[in-house]
Amino acid sequence: MATRVVIGTQWGDEGKGKYIDMLAGSSDIVVRFSGGNNAGHTIVADGVKYALHLIPSGILHNGKTCIIGNGVVIDPAVLLKEIDGLNAKGINTDNLLISDRAHVIMPYHKELDELQERFRGEASLGTTKRGIGPAYSDKTERCGIRMCDLIDSEAFAQKVKENLKVKNLIIEKVYGGQGFDADKIIAEYSQYAYRLRKHVADVNAFIFDAMDKGKNILFEGAQATFLDLDFGTYPYVTSSNPVAGGVCTGAGIGPVYIDEVYGVLKAYTSRVGAGPFPTEQNNEIGDKIRELGWEYGTTTGRPRRCGWLDTVMIRYAARINGLTGLAINHVDTIGKIGKIKLCRAYKKDGVEITHFPASLKELAKCEPVYEEFDGWELDSDKVRKYSDLPGNAKKYLERVEELVGVKIKLIGIGKDREQTIMV
Ligand code: GDP
Ligand code: IMO
Ligand code: MG
Repeated sequence: MATRVVIGTQWGDEGKGKYIDMLAGSSDIVVRFSGGNNAGHTIVADGVKYALHLIPSGILHNGKTCIIGNGVVIDPAVLLKEIDGLNAKGINTDNLLISDRAHVIMPYHKELDELQERFRGEASLGTTKRGIGPAYSDKTERCGIRMCDLIDSEAFAQKVKENLKVKNLIIEKVYGGQGFDADKIIAEYSQYAYRLRKHVADVNAFIFDAMDKGKNILFEGAQATFLDLDFGTYPYVTSSNPVAGGVCTGAGIGPVYIDEVYGVLKAYTSRVGAGPFPTEQNNEIGDKIRELGWEYGTTTGRPRRCGWLDTVMIRYAARINGLTGLAINHVDTIGKIGKIKLCRAYKKDGVEITHFPASLKELAKCEPVYEEFDGWELDSDKVRKYSDLPGNAKKYLERVEELVGVKIKLIGIGKDREQTIMV
């Protein structure tokens, strides 16, 4: 049995989906454990592009069980659209299981996400407006609606009515918005319940049984370490725990069952939404990275902010997640930039530091300390092993390994699942 976890080490969009899809080939079960449809995971398999938001990226492999764990928040309309989209492309989704404990995103969550962002004005977080934050808030406030409620029409109707008493007051009286009609929501969601019922199960028991039988399980991270509610650049974070520890609470397994944790990173850094970004290149270099790497959001289509790779961040991610290996993407892209910079430390108040401060005020005082490297050209269709890589690429990758203190196990040199070097 092998239990592997794939985690984002930066601000998301590192290319987790590509590796999940690849590692799914040697797994029996793939499990999403956090986030919701704020995630956008792109997979290019045999030249066909797929964008997944909720369904685990293992779905493209026939016969694998794909699980949405209790730590995920589910927008049933989005999930059904994704199921239909995959089915239309000939992908079977019968093996999809959804935790009965996962929370449901309701129309008022999406409305509140929108209104809260508008109300924040200049200080808006740049959320995906998918209702993620308000759904997790209800979970911790203990008024959330779970999948086991969605498929129980009586419980569901009662909870919607209870919730709307308060939500409509907030939406109308605080934000001046338009409240919701309980019966309309109940009618709409009963359609979703009808279709999703067959997928809802006690998946925690299923995972435990599978581990007992020696099955290989892959846990699919969404978002990333610096979007983590506790360890990210708070408050510019998402509302869940996408770090490796989130596997335990978001899928219900004990920490001793985790064998390997892969940290995915890009050979540069990107970020969508607001918040600090020490190595950001808000200039022609950032523009060049964006165009060469095609850095536009998979979920919202927003242009991603781009900058140099920051090893202070990756070292921190290695510690928080207990990384056992790195998976680095876009080694093809960064080579084309020309002179490349790599951040090895921050200078703060005249002193070099290598830790990531909690206070955003302190972080703002940090100036990246860079090392410079020469670029390279590589043919993504020809390079298949480490020794095929240009010397300059190897120099860069070896320095990243040295600064982070974790070995690189996978190297991405293109979008396609085939364009990967296993070290
Ligand atoms: P995720 O959210 O972590 O799964 O990542 P996204 O799918 O949102 O963004 C990663 C983007 O980079 C996608 O467009 C991928 O197709 C692309 N990509 C991933 N790895 C590589 C790579 O090694 N080289 C290039 N050129 N593109 C890559
Ligand atoms: P994947 O899995 C990149 C960002 C949003 C925003 C912040 C809060 O594709 O890597 P939210 O809607 O979650 O309340 O927004 O988090 N964000 C992501 N950025 N990739 C993601 O997922 C993200 N999921 C959330 O842009 O800045
Ligand atoms: Mg993404």
